[in-house]
Amino acid sequence: MSNDPKEPLLLDHEYDGIQELDNNLPRWWVWLFYLTIIYAAIYLVYYHVTCTGDLSAAEYKNEMKAGDAVKSAAMGKFESSIATLQASKENAVLENGRVIYNKFCAPCHRVDGGGLVGPNLSDDYWIHGSTYTDSVKVIWDGVPAKGMVTWKTVLKPDEIQAVASYIYTLRGAKLATPGKLPENQQPAKPAGPSNFE
Ligand code: HEC
Repeated sequence: MSNDPKEPLLLDHEYDGIQELDNNLPRWWVWLFYLTIIYAAIYLVYYHVTCTGDLSAAEYKNEMKAGDAVKSAAMGKFESSIATLQASKENAVLENGRVIYNKFCAPCHRVDGGGLVGPNLSDDYWIHGSTYTDSVKVIWDGVPAKGMVTWKTVLKPDEIQAVASYIYTLRGAKLATPGKLPENQQPAKPAGPSNFE
């Protein structure tokens, strides 16, 4: 290859005085290169020929399944403990509950709990019971048929406890504008137009 007997590694081309040496590649580099070829062959057989290993889509599915199992176990554990729970009086929990309430609940129950689409939470009248457990249950499961959202798919158990503890503090509050009347005291609906009868 070389035309210079004094420098056998020198290749016989030259551009603007720049010449090239034909060095041997370092041993470690060559072995690393062979290793990548062997690795690729094993990878191909393992994942794509015998299909022994899971591809990323299947791995994702398996992890999601395992995650769902952990989640539903935690949800089941919380559900069975609802009867034993107590409202929290800790400021940090109530503050967290206030933020959640104003964001998610106030559109239907009014910021002060006076009620809009949802019932008044500041009076002594309760459709689903007045205890803390009753509130946690109704928030957790919702009343989908009546327009109360099932919050267990949106909020975590500790968030539901925080917001349930917070609505306790709204009870008996003096409201600036009158709240919604209890359901059993709603004024009778005006009679419909008679020409449709
Ligand atoms: C889309 C409107 C809507 C939203 C949002 C909503 N609620 Fe309700 N909520 C209702 C309705 C409607 C009812 C009455 C259900 C019934 O008549 O059985 C209700 C009932 C309740 C009750 C039971 C009241 C009683 O008298 O027994 C509680 C407690 C309650 N909601 C808390 C919450 C909390 C806490 C949130 C926020 C995490 C929330 N709600 C968000 C509509 C809503």
